[in-house]
Amino acid sequence: LSVRAGLIEPDGGKLVDLHVAEPERGLKKREAALLPRVKLSRIDLQWVHVLSEGWASPLTGFMRESEFLQTLHFNSLRLGDGSFVNMSVPIVLAIDDSQKERIAESKRVTLVDLDDNPVAILNNIEIYKHPKEERIARTWGTTAPGLPYVEETITKAGNWLIGGDLEVIEPIKYHDGLDHFRLSPVELRQEFEKRNADAVFAFQLRNPVHNGHALLMTDTRRRLLEMGYKNPILLLHPLGGYMKADDVPLSWRMKQHEKVLEDGVLDPETTVVSIFPSPMHYAGPTEVQWHAKARINAGANFYIVGRDPAGMGHPNEKRDLYDADHGKKVLSMAPGLERLNILPFRVAAYDKTQFKMAFFDPSRAQDFLFISGTKMRALAKNKENPPDGFMCPGGWKVLVKYYDSLTPS
Ligand code: ADX
Repeated sequence: LSVRAGLIEPDGGKLVDLHVAEPERGLKKREAALLPRVKLSRIDLQWVHVLSEGWASPLTGFMRESEFLQTLHFNSLRLGDGSFVNMSVPIVLAIDDSQKERIAESKRVTLVDLDDNPVAILNNIEIYKHPKEERIARTWGTTAPGLPYVEETITKAGNWLIGGDLEVIEPIKYHDGLDHFRLSPVELRQEFEKRNADAVFAFQLRNPVHNGHALLMTDTRRRLLEMGYKNPILLLHPLGGYMKADDVPLSWRMKQHEKVLEDGVLDPETTVVSIFPSPMHYAGPTEVQWHAKARINAGANFYIVGRDPAGMGHPNEKRDLYDADHGKKVLSMAPGLERLNILPFRVAAYDKTQFKMAFFDPSRAQDFLFISGTKMRALAKNKENPPDGFMCPGGWKVLVKYYDSLTPS
C-alpha cells in the first residue's frame, strides 16, 4: 500500500494485514487440521475480522497478558520504540478449563467458526487468567448486572484468555448482502486517495441518522472548508458488529442511511458510506477512544464526537450510565490520540421555533425538544410522525417499516 502524503499514518506506522497470502491458503488449511481447536463465538469472529484488517494496528492478534494489562490500566500500548498508541478496550479470546487442557503444550491453535470451519491459526500462544470482574469494572466503570456485552460474552465465558499472533486463512465474509459495504482500512484509504481527499472526517454511529447527527457532519464540513481544506471527505461509518437487542439492526440502518443520501441530507459526492466491523461494548468514554483510534487506521484525521458517545441508559437505574460530556472530554485528552483532530459538539435538539434540529441553547431551553432513541422508537412503533425537520421523510419511512416488521400480525 502506498500511503499518500495527505492521509494520516496508521498507528505504528504500518497497517497490519493478518491474512494468509492466497497461494499459501491450502497449506495453512492442512496445518490447521492438525492443531488443537478453539471454537469462536459470533462475536469472537467479529474480532478476528477487526484484527485481520488492521483496525487495531499495530496489534497482530488477540491480546497477550502484557497487552491486556496495558489496555486495562493505561488505555494504551507501548511500542518497541517507546512511543504509545491508544488502545482502550481489551481484544481478547476466552477459553474454558477443558479447552485449556486440550491445548496442553501446543504453541499453536486453530480457531474454528460455529460450523467448525477453520478460520485462523493463533501462533506463539500465551494462556493467562481471565480476571472477569476486574476487566468489567475497568472497562465499564461498573459491574452492575445487565451490561449487554458483558452478559452476552464475559459472564459465561471461560476463566482463561488466550493471546497470540493471528494468521487468518480467508477474508471474513458475512454473506448478508452487505459485504460490499465492509471496506477494510486499506480499501478505505484507497477510496480516499481516489477521491483526492485532503481531509477525512469520520462519523461513528450505531443509530439511524437524524438531522441532529447530520448537523454535526455538515457543520464539520463547513469548518474544514473554512480552515482551507479543498476536498474534505466524510466517512459515514455505522458500526456493524454485535449490538444490544433494542438497537436498530444493521440491514435496516443501511437502508435508512441510503435514504438520507438520496433525500440530500448528506452529499453522496463527498461521503463514503462503509461498515465498521467492530462489536459494540457500550462502554462510553472508554469505548469512544477505540472508535476514534480505529478510524485513524482507516485514514481519518478528523473525528466527530457529540453527546454521550457509545453510551446507554444505566442497566438498572433511571439515568445515563455515563456523564454525557465525558466522552468528548476524554477523547480530547486521550493518550495516543494526539495526532487525531477531535471535533467536539454540543448536544443537538429540535428547535420548536425554527422547526429544525439545532444546537441546544440553554438560555432558551423551553424552545427545545429532546427526541431520545426511546421516544423515536415509540413514535415509529405507533406510526406517529416526529416533528417536521427531525428526520428526512424517506429515512423515517424505513424506521416505521422496521418497527412494523417487529409487530406480530
Ligand atoms: S454511538 O454509540 O455510535 O456513539 P449514536 O449513533 O447515537 O451512538 O451517536 C453517533 C454520534 O453522534 C456520537 O458522536 C454521538 O455523541 C453523537 N450524537 C448522537 N446524538 C446526538 C445529539 N442529539 N446531539 C449531539 N451529538 C449527538
